[in-house]
Amino acid sequence: MGKFYITTPIFYVNDKPHIGHAYTAIIADVIARWRRLSGDEVFFLTGTDEHGEKIQRAAEAKHLKPKEFVDEIVKKYKEAWEKLNISYNKFIRTTDKEHEEAVNKFIERIYRKGDIYRGEYEGWYCVPDETFLADSQLIDGKCPVCGREVKKVKEEAYFFKLSKYRDKLLEFYGKNPDFIMPKFRMVEMENRLKGDVKDLDITRRSISWAIPFEPDKTHSVYVWVDALTNYISALGWPDGDLFKKFWPADVHIIGKEINWFHSVIWPSLLMSAGLELPKKVMVHGWLTVDGQKMSKSLGNVVDPVQIADKYSTDALRYFLIRSVKLGEDSDFSEKELISKINGELVSNLGNLLSRTLSLYRTYFGRIKGEVEIKCDVEKICSLMDGLMLYEALDEILKFVKDMNKYIAEKEPWKLEAEKLKVVLYNLLEGLRILSILIYPFMPETALEISRQLNVKLGTRADLKFKEVDYAPKRGRHLFKWVK
Ligand code: MSP
Repeated sequence: MGKFYITTPIFYVNDKPHIGHAYTAIIADVIARWRRLSGDEVFFLTGTDEHGEKIQRAAEAKHLKPKEFVDEIVKKYKEAWEKLNISYNKFIRTTDKEHEEAVNKFIERIYRKGDIYRGEYEGWYCVPDETFLADSQLIDGKCPVCGREVKKVKEEAYFFKLSKYRDKLLEFYGKNPDFIMPKFRMVEMENRLKGDVKDLDITRRSISWAIPFEPDKTHSVYVWVDALTNYISALGWPDGDLFKKFWPADVHIIGKEINWFHSVIWPSLLMSAGLELPKKVMVHGWLTVDGQKMSKSLGNVVDPVQIADKYSTDALRYFLIRSVKLGEDSDFSEKELISKINGELVSNLGNLLSRTLSLYRTYFGRIKGEVEIKCDVEKICSLMDGLMLYEALDEILKFVKDMNKYIAEKEPWKLEAEKLKVVLYNLLEGLRILSILIYPFMPETALEISRQLNVKLGTRADLKFKEVDYAPKRGRHLFKWVK
């Protein structure tokens, strides 16, 4: 049995989660569930990024103490993750005592290595992204990532020698060409690394809502150094058993705007601390809503819990993976969601199950027979293993369509008993295999199919046609048609 460590970014708790946050978490959950089906021991980490100026300001705006404020938002994240069936093993908060201690231990390692020095930072700072920016990075004087105002900062600071790791990192990329997925995101990082790499300011002054910087308590730890450390502090680094067992991470799932932090800064910090680097960083694109960036001022922020309440958690999970190739940007539109629910989930998947079960009820008890339908299980498994979730789901849907076609071609209602048995055997076994394949994407639907087939949901080892005695039960249609 293998082991598999997967993480989401930890989420800023300035506000409750929106559909973009849900997207990151659902991708990670699909992969975590697939690894579990494959027999791996999985550690799936998610959590919240709670310190820093952005959160401090958000709390002030609500006239709350930061801790009171974040406690409320954390509840909303946990509720949302429960609603969306995010099967995490641990939810880390950067305000956890163990985490705060680990951050300073981590800094001490890097300090001892001689990779931290005192200097002065002069440049720009984007508070919403908690990012230091040079003049050359600004676009029209604004933050290149979020397009918002930046502020001038000139203060004494401690720096991490990021530039020292630039060549080592390029060498590492060369030896690990699949480190960043998709490939073009790796090329972006390489190009930036080949340019001018500046050392990183890792402390802030005048920020009270932050972890104190032990070597000099007139400073506090820059929130990104605090945040990145969560991936090891959650495992009880340095001595924790979980750390010994699960580090290095098999994959960090992140959005494109935080790639530099995960693919450059984090590996450099780890090299400095003498720790192994994660095996992979999977970078997804951004979701817009009806073609526009989500923002409070536009009033178009989509609440994933509301969508799941309205259409079902599985429909939302399905749609988010089905509508975009991992890595690309895409648009969330409720109209499109409805069209996928009616066109694919109701008409293809739901109907396949209900047609099959009604045929069964009309005719027989026990059945078996020759395999007449094909499912390219090997291809789907290899796509899933390679984190090609969109492509895998597309193949799965093809299988669903093929089964519907099989029914149409065979016209089972016209067949005599012996031939009908064979068709039903194929359909029931096909559906059993399908229930396993869709489980990572739509866990509730997968369980409902197994319940109606009256078999236990299988694992990866059960993805083949077998001899199974069926005694299906009557059940509801899997999805509701949306008007
Ligand atoms: N706190 C940092 C991450 C620290 S990890 C050590 C952060 N938080 S975030 O809440 O802003 O973003 C968390 C995740 O949500 C990121 O992967 C980000 O890409 C994702 N999304 C936030 N808005 C998004 C969209 N509109 N679309 C898709 N994903 C986006 O960054």
